[in-house]
This record gives sequence, structure tokens and C-alpha cells, in this order.
Amino acid sequence: DKGYDYVLFSAGASVSKQYAPIAAERGAVVIDNSSAFRSDAEIPLVVPEINGDLLKGYCGIVANPNCSTIQMVLSLSGIHKSYGIKTIVVSTYQAVSGAGNKGIAELEEQERGDIRPSVFVRQIHRNVVPVIGDLLHSNFSTEEMKMVHETRKIFRDDSISVWPTTVRVPVAYGHSESVFCETVRPFSLEDLIREIESSEDVVYSEERLTPIEVAGSDLVFVSRLRGFDDNRFLFWNIADNIRVGAATNAIRIMKTHLGGT
Ligand SMILES: NC(=O)c1ccc[n+]([C@@H]2O[C@H](COP(=O)([O-])OP(=O)(O)OC[C@H]3O[C@@H](n4cnc5c(N)ncnc54)[C@H](OP(=O)(O)O)[C@@H]3O)[C@@H](O)[C@H]2O)c1
Repeated sequence: DKGYDYVLFSAGASVSKQYAPIAAERGAVVIDNSSAFRSDAEIPLVVPEINGDLLKGYCGIVANPNCSTIQMVLSLSGIHKSYGIKTIVVSTYQAVSGAGNKGIAELEEQERGDIRPSVFVRQIHRNVVPVIGDLLHSNFSTEEMKMVHETRKIFRDDSISVWPTTVRVPVAYGHSESVFCETVRPFSLEDLIREIESSEDVVYSEERLTPIEVAGSDLVFVSRLRGFDDNRFLFWNIADNIRVGAATNAIRIMKTHLGGT
């Protein structure tokens, strides 16, 4: 009732489902970090550097995508525009902070010796857990299906075939991804580097970067780019999941909306 211009929600899907429509009805632009509205056809799912045009003149709920999807589409956006991405095979190495504060707390408790799993389905300390979210009948997980649907929605291209495996690793901050792509049109690796370097908020690096080195940054880092032929390539993609994959994207949505109104 106080008439806020922007309301940011980040307390989980059930809180968003209950309260976000109320804020939107009162005239606020609602930026929702949860998964509550991401697959709703009427709700824009926005990574401003890619589809920020959807925000122009828009009023209502805007969904912030899943963390693994945001950093992947940021690195692939220019390449998709120029060469047309046909297939993406991605394996993630996701930090425990992706499960919120309780994820970090569980890793720290296990490091101190209490190895009983509760947030994660198996011990995460000195281990990797190859399931994030719930397993579906198809044997894909809910986290994996977010990457499939959200990538297509953000790129506005349902023809892209996405094959994800999402894995939790005992890292505090920073998601890593091994990404394989096949394109419609041929390229050279120099072409790809040019596309990546000209992408907003993405950095190409010849270094062997690890998540601990990028934690705290608002950029996505692409490294280890390689391929055997002219329509398939692989790279290592890392970003701070809390910043690029959540908070920074939410703030970028607000700033882009402010700039366009
Ligand atoms: N972590 C990530 O990488 C990431 C990435 C993308 C999206 N998200 C989404 O962001 C949301 C928050 O995730 P998170 O990782 O920040 O989780 P988190 O560490 O568990 O934090 C959730 C916060 O919400 C607060 N909260 C819970 N219920 C509330 C209520 N009814 N009213 C007001 N505040 C309430 C909690 O406050 P108390 O501590 O006082 O309970 C806590 O500060 C989730 O929807 C998640 O899916 C997270």
C-alpha cells in the first residue's frame, strides 16, 4: 500500500507465490529471485544483457533465472546470435551456497566432523553429489530441467537441445560448468573468442581459472576454449553464483528497467 516502485523477493518460492502478486497488484515492479514464476509464459525471465528489451514499459512480476542458467547463457549469447546453437551438453560443479545459507552451514559442520547429510542427499565434504533438486520420472532432476526450459525461454528459441547434468561440489562460492556446444553455422576458435570478448559482463581468459578466484566478481569467466572441428566446441565457464547467478542479475534487471522507463 505504500507504493514502492520496486520490490525484490528472495525468500523462496512459497513466499513469492503468496506475496509477489500482492506487491504487483499495488503497482510495484517485482523482481523475483525464486523459481515461482520462471516457467509462466506471461512472466518475463530476464538476463538484461540478452533480453532486457522485455523490460521496456513492463510493469508486474519479472523472474530472475536459475544461477547455472544465467552464467551459461551470458557466455553463449553472442555465439548463439552469430552461429546458431543447436545442442548444449553441460555438466555443472555447483557451490554449496547455491542451496542458501544452510548449504554453507552443512559443509562447515561436515568439515568439523559431523558428516550427517541433511540439506544434501549425501555427504558433501570430500565428495561430489550428482543430483541437485528432486529426481523426476525421466531421471533428470528439477535443477537440470530448469537449465533446459530457462535457456530456451531466455534465447527465445525452443529448438535448442539442452543436455544437463547438475552436480554439487564442496566449494563455498562460485559455480563451474563444463559446456559442450554444437552450432548450425561453422566458426573458427578466433571467431568464438571475438564473440565472447564482445559480450557484456563476460571475460575470456587464457588462464586456468577456478571458482575461488572469481568469487566476489560480477563477471562470467570463460576459459579452456577448445574444439576439433568448425561446428563443435568446449569451454570452462565460471561465475559467482550469489552475485552473477542471483543478486547482481536482480539489480541489473532493476537498473535496466529504471533506464528504460
Ligand atoms: N543461493 C543461490 O545461489 C540462489 C541463486 C538463484 C536464486 N536463488 C533463490 O533465492 C531465494 C533465496 O535463496 P538463498 O540462497 O538466499 O536462501 P537462504 O540463504 O536460505 O536465505 C533465505 C532468506 O529468506 C528469508 N526468509 C525466509 N522466509 C521469509 C519470510 N516469510 N519473510 C521474509 N523473509 C524470509 C530468510 O530469513 P531468516 O534467515 O530470518 O529465516 C533468509 O534471510 C530462493 O528462492 C532461491 O531459490 C538462490
